[in-house]
Amino acid sequence: MSKAKILVTRRIPEAGLKKLGEHCDFTVLSDGPPPSYEDVLEKSRDCDGILALLTERIDDELMGACPRLKVVSNMAVGYNNIDVAAATARKIRVGNTPDVLTEATADMALCLLLAAARRIMEGDRFIRDGEWKTWDPLGLLGLDLAGKTVGIVGMGRIGLSTARRLRGGWGCRILYYGRSRNREAEEELGAEKRELDDLLGESDFVSVHLPASEHTNGMFGEAAFNKMKKGSVFINTARGELHDGDALYRALESGHLFSAGLDVTNPEPLPPDNKLLSLPNVVIAPHIGSATKETRSAMAVMAADNIIAALKGEAMPSCVNKGDLCPGSPS
Ligand code: GLV
Repeated sequence: MSKAKILVTRRIPEAGLKKLGEHCDFTVLSDGPPPSYEDVLEKSRDCDGILALLTERIDDELMGACPRLKVVSNMAVGYNNIDVAAATARKIRVGNTPDVLTEATADMALCLLLAAARRIMEGDRFIRDGEWKTWDPLGLLGLDLAGKTVGIVGMGRIGLSTARRLRGGWGCRILYYGRSRNREAEEELGAEKRELDDLLGESDFVSVHLPASEHTNGMFGEAAFNKMKKGSVFINTARGELHDGDALYRALESGHLFSAGLDVTNPEPLPPDNKLLSLPNVVIAPHIGSATKETRSAMAVMAADNIIAALKGEAMPSCVNKGDLCPGSPS
């Protein structure tokens, strides 16, 4: 029997390709930047599966052009680039890679939070510009983190890991906003659930951990930033769609917010002439929350495992379709 045919849209860590190659024939479409939508569509036409990244839009039209398609596996925890409802209607399973990237992404939230609180980027620039002449008792004053109140917007896996670091390492008081109660966070960390507006008004630091969706996109606009405490810090490691870049610029430029740390931007990639980049009090990383050697390898293997399980008709390590398309899968 011939092996299943898989399109891998961009080169992923070798461990994932090795795993895939043991069970399927695969083609890697791009060794560099994201392929065009049209290219992915053309090359997927005769494929049984697509291993995609968050840079690829997998919509109804594309899936409709692939009569053999049984599975789309995203090498990411977020899957807002895939029309899951359309996939479900076509009985195409959709996989993602949660858990394996939780700790790396929570580390990134802390990196940005500390860098934004302690003005690390400004300090680095100060030295490179040749301005460091002496130790200055009033220079580059930042904010303490110990004992502060942190608002976690979205207490899922990554939100919880971020909160654990803040509670265990810095004794922070943890508030959270989310659709449902997280008893683990409440019992283990003393986290308190709040309405969003109350959380924004009480928190010294706000860290966003919600997926992008029609319910969350644009959640942080002018109104939300105005409700944040004066002198507080905004962190987003989730998806750029959740914040309005212009509104964030105004909140930072006016001094209402002390600073911000972003691993995700709106738009993404952020053009070099975006006005946020003219501000000293924002630190921006190019969507690298899961970018450690260990984590990206684990994501690649999980993405391959999702494809292999789906093609065998077995429970996938993580399947996101609603309904009974993924019996036995944990998500
Ligand atoms: C990265 O943003 C992911 O969703 O894995």
